[in-house]
Amino acid sequence: MTPVLLFTALAAASGIVANSKRAANADTIEFANVGFPGLYFDVSKFLDVDSDSCSCTLSDDSTLFSGTNAPLDEELSVHFRGPLSLLSFGAYVSNDSDAGTWLRLSYYNAANQTAENVTFITHAGDNSPCLGEALTFASANGTGKASAATILEADNLIESNEEFIIFSNLLCPDSGASNACGYYRDDNVAYHGFYGTTKMFLFEFQMPEATEDSDSNYNMPAIWFLNAKIPRASQYPTSYSCSCWNSGCGEIDIFEVMNTSTTDMLFSTIHDFQGTGLIDYGLQADAYFTRDTSGTMKGGVVFGSNGTISIFMLDDMTIPESVAASTVNGWFSTTDEETMTLESIAAASTTTKASGGLAVASGWIATLASLVFLALMYF
Ligand SMILES: *[C@@H]1O[C@H](CO)[C@@H](O)[C@H](O)[C@H]1NC(C)=O
Ligand SMILES: *[C@@H]1O[C@H](CO)[C@@H](O)[C@H](O)[C@H]1NC(C)=O
Ligand SMILES: *[C@@H]1O[C@H](CO)[C@@H](O)[C@H](O)[C@H]1NC(C)=O
Ligand SMILES: *[C@@H]1O[C@H](CO)[C@@H](O)[C@H](O)[C@H]1NC(C)=O
Ligand SMILES: *[C@@H]1O[C@H](CO)[C@@H](O)[C@H](O)[C@H]1NC(C)=O
Ligand SMILES: *[C@@H]1O[C@H](CO)[C@@H](O)[C@H](O)[C@H]1NC(C)=O
Repeated sequence: MTPVLLFTALAAASGIVANSKRAANADTIEFANVGFPGLYFDVSKFLDVDSDSCSCTLSDDSTLFSGTNAPLDEELSVHFRGPLSLLSFGAYVSNDSDAGTWLRLSYYNAANQTAENVTFITHAGDNSPCLGEALTFASANGTGKASAATILEADNLIESNEEFIIFSNLLCPDSGASNACGYYRDDNVAYHGFYGTTKMFLFEFQMPEATEDSDSNYNMPAIWFLNAKIPRASQYPTSYSCSCWNSGCGEIDIFEVMNTSTTDMLFSTIHDFQGTGLIDYGLQADAYFTRDTSGTMKGGVVFGSNGTISIFMLDDMTIPESVAASTVNGWFSTTDEETMTLESIAAASTTTKASGGLAVASGWIATLASLVFLALMYF
């Protein structure tokens, strides 16, 4: 067990992480003051990926980030877990989320099978003991393997625990530490994610009740984003050294069922080190969206140029080619709204890189120290 897992488990057991306050239903959930100066560790090497001796190494040098929305200002990939059908999707960029115009760079429409600048990817490749299944083009149903880029079919319901990912249609250069896509698994199909400090993603989707059994994540649909380096390296590895996730390169979950006790609630969570030392838990907003299991839901997320990430659901939202910032800002509810303000972090000064690849921003040494104290009390 790595230190971070031990601390997390003890923190959970002691109840300091569990939120006893009852979260409220919302139409808009905002994370404010997002972005901080920090760092993470990229993968520098995979060894023997197809054998049991498979191993991963993180770079000794940290990758620094800072500024508005960081590290979520980096390229992101878009992830879907069933039970879910995707009716339409749009990815946008803008120069200013308060005054500019949002331009749609990527679009998918299931009904008329339009796919512009999107690549549907899934985990259907060779299974590696440490990296899991490689990324391949997804077949039309989202979960099989295709030999070339394929449009997700109109009737595209995926079941519990099934997943697909959307990247842009921009191919990555060859894997390499210093190039735009970083070091990634050689046998992965590798595309760029969606760039921008100021970016927006809109979705029209369904999350019906599960109808088929599943060993894990039963009836727990989700839509979330990862730093696009994570899936290209390994999304479900057996070691924290196989991707930059554990050192905090970034994840944001926007509509996620967390467990089988709360399947009608969609939660929003940021997983990085801004204001928490517990990357596994991340920071979950104290509100949820209601999952409509019989109708179509519409909503999305705006990564604003003022460092506010606004996640919303709204029935009369559209996914047009372009849309004025003022229109988008009018989509956020002012009445059923919950804001979580993230802590301001002065600077990423000292860090430690422990054997498991654990990186700790200096502000969190105190948190870890208190957890060590807690751990001692337990033994
Ligand atoms: C951002 O500004 C530049 C320079 O004015 C312009 O060329 C570009 O189209 C703008 N991008 C968007 C998304 O509006
Ligand atoms: C597909 O449907 C969308 C939404 O109605 C529309 O904007 C788009 O023009 C349609 N595309 C084609 C090729 O019919
Ligand atoms: C999805 O498509 C793949 C490839 O065509 C196929 O092998 C697989 O059985 C399909 N899955 C389902 C659930 O139909
Ligand atoms: C496709 O999407 C990527 C990522 O947003 C972007 O860099 C690229 O410019 C887009 N291509 C076109 C033709 O819009
Ligand atoms: C399920 O997840 C929600 C949201 O994180 C949490 O409030 C609730 O306590 C969890 N329930 C169980 C049984 O873990
Ligand atoms: C940032 O912009 C959002 C969306 O317009 C707004 O809701 C929020 O209050 C703004 N935050 C700050 C700190 O100005």
